[in-house]
Amino acid sequence: MSRSAHPAGPRHADVIAEGHYTPPPADLNALDPKVWSRTVTRGADGAVAVGGIEVTRLAEEFGTPAYVLDEDDFRARCRAWADAFGADADVFYAGKAFLSKAVVRWLHEEGLNLDVCSGVELAVALAAGMPAERIAFHGNNKSAHEIETAVAAGVGRIVLDSFQEIARVAHTAERLGRRQRVMIRVTVGVEAHTHEFIATAHEDQKFGLALAGGQAAEAVRRVLKLDGLELTGIHSHIGSQIFDMAGFEVSARRVVRLLADVRDEHGVELPEIDLGGGLGIAYTSDDDPREPQEIAKALHDIVTRECEASGLRSPRISVEPGRAIVGPTAFTVYEVGTVKPLDGLRTYVSVDGGMSDNIRTALYDAEYSVALVSRTSDAEPMLSRVVGKHCESGDIVVRDAFLPADLAPGDLVAVPATGAYCRAMASNYNHALRPPVVSVRDGAATVIVRRETEEDLLRLDVG
Ligand code: LLP
Repeated sequence: MSRSAHPAGPRHADVIAEGHYTPPPADLNALDPKVWSRTVTRGADGAVAVGGIEVTRLAEEFGTPAYVLDEDDFRARCRAWADAFGADADVFYAGKAFLSKAVVRWLHEEGLNLDVCSGVELAVALAAGMPAERIAFHGNNKSAHEIETAVAAGVGRIVLDSFQEIARVAHTAERLGRRQRVMIRVTVGVEAHTHEFIATAHEDQKFGLALAGGQAAEAVRRVLKLDGLELTGIHSHIGSQIFDMAGFEVSARRVVRLLADVRDEHGVELPEIDLGGGLGIAYTSDDDPREPQEIAKALHDIVTRECEASGLRSPRISVEPGRAIVGPTAFTVYEVGTVKPLDGLRTYVSVDGGMSDNIRTALYDAEYSVALVSRTSDAEPMLSRVVGKHCESGDIVVRDAFLPADLAPGDLVAVPATGAYCRAMASNYNHALRPPVVSVRDGAATVIVRRETEEDLLRLDVG
């Protein structure tokens, strides 16, 4: 998923000799600010610190593996997105990337809205005091219970994803005596990939109602007839870990065209559009993500231009960044357990976590960086593969990276940019206990999600 290229074909000594690998960085002790959160520094004694606390201390106090989240960085990214989009747009943090009550409070304090995609995400948001009107509820198969809870709570918008759901939400709203604000999620026929976008057979996926073929227009017709629903606009989300703005521009253009069609057919100008999330972050030094300012300007410009061309008032724009806010704010710290050099190939470095705390490498072939964080080293770079402790050879955390050749059991290594979709997608494979999330700020550390315990898992096992 990361933009950095994998060497094609077999990854063995010949490939290394042919120079298909990114060469080792000039200084293995340096921490590239592109991939590490803002308050990460290396202290005089060589240990890495974040939020004013040394990682060695965090590991001692909270154990490993652990996700360490830089609260200042998280808040700064929230503000950067909110400032870039300004008062006439809405930024919804996509909670699926990582959600906890502390995060919801930070979002609330920084003035962001929240996108949830399950009843339990909604419960977390409400429990942490996010006002319901600032919550958008997503999902392609919301249950009757989820719909009822969302409508009863008064969520600001439900994003409708199918004809069945239009009827279900309308029925629930009418039964509860509510008029629910809704958007229709459309598939615009753009599938965005990491560094390109391809126009695809838009029907061939589970989300949304296709613009082509008229499903989206039919959805608008149906929603406008229902008393229980107030249609506020059109939603589109084109993919994830995207660097190229071209896909968003095509999407914005097609969504605005639908607004014009709706005006022509129904005499109604829908006031809002939501262009989804999906902005990429740097997982390695090769990745060059866009800044929120640049993204906001590109989206505003295209929407304004298209609206002017169609004689429409510019709608209020929403965006839903998840990864771009939380991804860069956390790293995972592991303790090295074994170091196994394979002659002419690479060295396998086994850590005390693995695919249960970061499935992204195995699932998406995602690339990550890694660094020794408990000390510095002047040893030669050693081509390494950081692997977990699970009973599976695909249990890889970092496929190809350089670590110092004197790496030894007991050293701490950290993998940056694990804030998004790592704890959120963590599993109990091999009955691994899911790691804690520890937030740090101004010299203080707080467990915001605690480590699972053996008792937690045994309690579920009621056979
Ligand atoms: N809005 C909607 C409707 C979405 O479906 C998503 C992500 C987002 C916003 C946020 O996207 P983001 O800005 O975080 O890329 N597990 C995958 C990513 C799946 C994203 C699903 N939807 C990964 O680890 O890369």
